[in-house]
Amino acid sequence: MNLENLIRDFSEVFKTDEGIHVFFAPGRVNLIGEHTDYNGGHVFPCAINFGTYAIARKREDSKVKVISKNFEELGVIEFNINDLVYREEDNWANYPKGIIKTFKDARYNIDSGLEILFFGNIPNGAGLSSSASIELATSIALKSLFNLNLLMIEMVELSQKSENQFNGVKCGIMDQFACGMGRKDHAILLDTNKMRYEYVPIKLDGISIVIANTNKHRDLMDSKYNERRSECENALRALQEKLEIFSLGDLSEEEFEENKHLIKNEIERKRAKHAVYENQRTIKAVRALTEGDIEKFGRLMNESHISLRDDYEVTGIELDTLVEAAWRNGAIGSRMTGAGFGGCTVSLVRNDEIESFIEKIGEEYERRIGYKADFYIVSIGDGARRI
Ligand code: GLA
Repeated sequence: MNLENLIRDFSEVFKTDEGIHVFFAPGRVNLIGEHTDYNGGHVFPCAINFGTYAIARKREDSKVKVISKNFEELGVIEFNINDLVYREEDNWANYPKGIIKTFKDARYNIDSGLEILFFGNIPNGAGLSSSASIELATSIALKSLFNLNLLMIEMVELSQKSENQFNGVKCGIMDQFACGMGRKDHAILLDTNKMRYEYVPIKLDGISIVIANTNKHRDLMDSKYNERRSECENALRALQEKLEIFSLGDLSEEEFEENKHLIKNEIERKRAKHAVYENQRTIKAVRALTEGDIEKFGRLMNESHISLRDDYEVTGIELDTLVEAAWRNGAIGSRMTGAGFGGCTVSLVRNDEIESFIEKIGEEYERRIGYKADFYIVSIGDGARRI
């Protein structure tokens, strides 16, 4: 990716490069703690060195014009700061539009239009938070261009609100948090119940984070995601008949085992089991990591995948094929990452094995699934920023 080319593209489209600023918001990979963020549990994501660039400038009038190099065929999408409604035909542009609307609704003074050219070097919709990275890139651009007095954590919360209310996706806070608050060479242990967080240094001596993209087309993902949420809510309500708890994240494994009979629906019981065990597993995994026990961290990643496969049922043949092949080919740990139903896996792999790892898993995947997976070796980067 070459910034000069992006700036040149901007001036070709918008006929000027006067007053432009460049912003970047990363994607994220979650190392462990999946489907726990809307259950009052812990997550352990990090920002990555791939994400979304935004070249932006203010306009004199009230028009907003946006273009994405990832959806060039859709051309410039135009709307007005005084008419910010969700429109199907505006496609991806509903993300930046939602951010502008959410900022305005929160009384931040956005008193003119703007032009933004986006370019993302993370695959769209593959579970690496391409949408949260667009949201945070837009947020940081608005803050800077309109001199808004906003903390990063506030932009994170507004971005989640925008995705929940404007785009209708009931996501938790993890993705926006990681894309906004990420720190180079650290993962973030976030307790979504108390909204407390801690940066944990990730020193992977001779080991790399390898992401594999299933390239599976994910349909109905949002509705399956929302279905898992309501199954967990039902399970929580059943437990609350007897227990004074506010979320599944309040329970230890033992407390869950003693009380799981209260959840009459078998599927809901399995979903709750995952949420409780995954939360505890995340705490154990971070402890192992800080004690320098990467092998144990890896085993807990594997257990996380099994729980997501068998109890939460959000994996599928594509993710399982990649992960099971990774286990057989020397990964220290491997699991699906993100919402699931397709998307990506994350594996810890020894540097001197990466080449053969990618080759073997890539071959096996293509043979079994019929199309190719993509692999990325990522490093842990900083959160959203002006560059
Ligand atoms: C998606 C959501 C997150 C989180 C993960 C699953 O990425 O946006 O809030 O729930 O799925 O862990």
